Amino acid sequence: MGKDVIVACDFASREEVLAFLDRFTGFTEEKPYVKIGMELFYGAGPDIVREIKGRGHRIFLDLKLHDIPNTVKRAMAVLSSLDVDMCNLHAGGTIAMMEAALEGLTRPDGTRPLLIAVTQLTSTSQERMEKDLLIRESMDQVVMHYAHNARLAGLDGVVCSPLEAGKVHEVCGADFLTVTPGVRFADGDVGDQVRVTTPARAKELGSDYIVVGRPITAAADPVAAYRRCVAEFIG
Ligand code: C5P
Repeated sequence: MGKDVIVACDFASREEVLAFLDRFTGFTEEKPYVKIGMELFYGAGPDIVREIKGRGHRIFLDLKLHDIPNTVKRAMAVLSSLDVDMCNLHAGGTIAMMEAALEGLTRPDGTRPLLIAVTQLTSTSQERMEKDLLIRESMDQVVMHYAHNARLAGLDGVVCSPLEAGKVHEVCGADFLTVTPGVRFADGDVGDQVRVTTPARAKELGSDYIVVGRPITAAADPVAAYRRCVAEFIG
């Protein structure tokens, strides 16, 4: 499985995201892998996926599905027909929900997008997990257990911190993908991310894909920032 940099296109409108991607017109290398989140998808609709795909980008559709198995299965079939390359769901929806999702994603010809699980959101603290969710194990145990469930269900990997990538690979195997946000250049702004690593460090820690937003989207020269990420992460 190839390592890659995924650009988090956290824009509110079609116009903004396309203006950003216009910077990559005439780009001679493979076009960047793009992450589309809820805001853009719900605001601009499924056509935005077709339009960006039509420009030659691979797409990670970050909608984090979580519902009863049958509903997730049917929704995943719709996402698969959009020809996305990667999508995700919450591992907390149970192994049965993840298995149903995979069934829904699989196209008649047997191909399907990669399916990645969110374990516990990084916005959830140990305290909130205990008090709100009544989960008493440590965050690390919960993350690894959910990752293991995702593996059992047949998923391709998890979203996690680069700092957890090594342990996820130990528990779930070297071929189980780790998709890791929280990446910053050594000389860049941290912003609201707390535990950050550089692209080079994420590579050393074993991340398979890094998800990078503002260090590229807010850079004076986004193409140069993207190339720097690729150079540090892939070499
Ligand atoms: O701008 P920045 O590089 O912080 O963007 C990181 C992207 O990864 C955002 O789209 C954010 O929502 C997403 N993400 C994250 N932490 C997680 C899961 C997703 O930062 N645990």
